[in-house]
Amino acid sequence: MTEEIAMATGSELEPAVRDDWYVVGALTQLDRGGWTTRLLGQNVVVEAGAEGAPPNVRDASGRGLPVRELYGCVWTSLGAPRGEPPPIPEADEPDRRHVVCGAVSVRASGLRLVENFLDMAHFPFVHTDILGAEPHTEVAQYTSEIRRDVDEVWATNCTFFQPQAAVSATGGLLTRYEYRVATPYVTMLYKTCPNAANRWDVICLFVQPLDPGRSRAHPVMFLIDEASRDADLLAFQQMIFLQDRIILENQRPVLLPLEPRAEIPTRADSSSVAYRRWLKEKNVRYGTTARIATSAA
Ligand SMILES: [Fe+2]
Repeated sequence: MTEEIAMATGSELEPAVRDDWYVVGALTQLDRGGWTTRLLGQNVVVEAGAEGAPPNVRDASGRGLPVRELYGCVWTSLGAPRGEPPPIPEADEPDRRHVVCGAVSVRASGLRLVENFLDMAHFPFVHTDILGAEPHTEVAQYTSEIRRDVDEVWATNCTFFQPQAAVSATGGLLTRYEYRVATPYVTMLYKTCPNAANRWDVICLFVQPLDPGRSRAHPVMFLIDEASRDADLLAFQQMIFLQDRIILENQRPVLLPLEPRAEIPTRADSSSVAYRRWLKEKNVRYGTTARIATSAA
């Protein structure tokens, strides 16, 4: 990746990207006062508020930005969001473990992170003997759709054989999944909970686009698991995500192509096809190859 791609920030942000909510750090970081980070090509400063008050978030020019404290994270926007950050009803269930996993930096488009999160085909090859194992490599047919009533992408009826689906799993498990993409950079999955047959574990991936080709991933989990230690839950998630990072940083192009047939999809990719179509409908260009093509023209 060239610095040129990483730092290309010249053109205006499209409304679908500018007016959305993004996670820029964990609430626990406020204990240390504040921090400077980056969002969509701009420096952003986060400072703890006065006792009991919400944190202050400012852009490079000192302009105050909208702020929310939700799901253990600080959320902000460079524009004027029409609504609130995506609802996650499971977050309010009192018996769930809420695990904020800490951020991982990745030299890849944030849209690539979301797409990788949706992909089951890589489980046996990238998360070998954990989330998948040979010979169970086939992705069974599942359903992908853009839900117009909520303007989200969903993939349902997903199944995959997993040798170690979670910290609390004992032995292999045919794991069921549902995937949800709530905003272009906010996604979550619902998967078979080894401890409660009728409920799902929820794993969220809040992606902070730093620049078109650089991002930070903030995984947050809402689990039914009274037994596992926090350290083990964190270590498991971190191990999985570091395995993903190797793949993500080697994908080319670094930015996500939205042009038809830029990358040949298979049946296993139907969630990715729906995601890209949805991004295109929203005219999302940040983090895609379309934006580079435009700024070069
Ligand atoms: Fe993965």
